[in-house]
Amino acid sequence: MTSLDSRAFRNALGEFATGVAIVTTQVEGQDPIGITVNSFSSVSLDPPLILWCLDKGSDRLSAFEVCDGFTINILAAEQLDLSNRFSRSGQPGLEGVPVRDGVNGCPYLTGALANFECSIDARHDAGDHIIMVGRVLAFHQPSAATPLIYHRGGYCALAP
Ligand SMILES: Cc1cc2nc3c(=O)[nH]c(=O)nc-3n(C[C@H](O)[C@H](O)[C@H](O)COP(=O)(O)O)c2cc1C
Repeated sequence: MTSLDSRAFRNALGEFATGVAIVTTQVEGQDPIGITVNSFSSVSLDPPLILWCLDKGSDRLSAFEVCDGFTINILAAEQLDLSNRFSRSGQPGLEGVPVRDGVNGCPYLTGALANFECSIDARHDAGDHIIMVGRVLAFHQPSAATPLIYHRGGYCALAP
């Protein structure tokens, strides 16, 4: 990093409490995969656009570079184990995870708070990440459970 202290910068960014999502995708002829992210953001209502950012060093990069779509699955607190599973290197497969087939050709997680099924709108190069912009084709909001929260590098609960 040029002039900033990288560790201190990461720590300061961690003050921004976020939800947690698993992004799922499926490239034709390959097994579906997922990755845990907290860089999700809404972008536009009309047209309906969202974004998330992918680390160029991720072992999932090759799939997300060529996929036609992806789905954002917003996690409930009780899905902490899934968040841990899909943040591990080299284990991106969805075996044993309850999913349904989405309209965008990607599986979506049935136990999530919300799912946003997207086609790829744009990929923007941004330093050591790629900004993935998705156009929302369909969404589901099947649960009103407590969300999973990430803050200061760890998971935490919402105050009642
Ligand atoms: C709470 C949390 C949020 C994360 N957010 C992102 C993110 O927004 N973008 C990203 O590329 N990786 C993110 N990661 C890291 C990836 O989940 C992890 O690097 C990847 O799944 C493991 O593969 P890799 O070692 O090849 O990167 C996050 C991890 C956690 C635990």
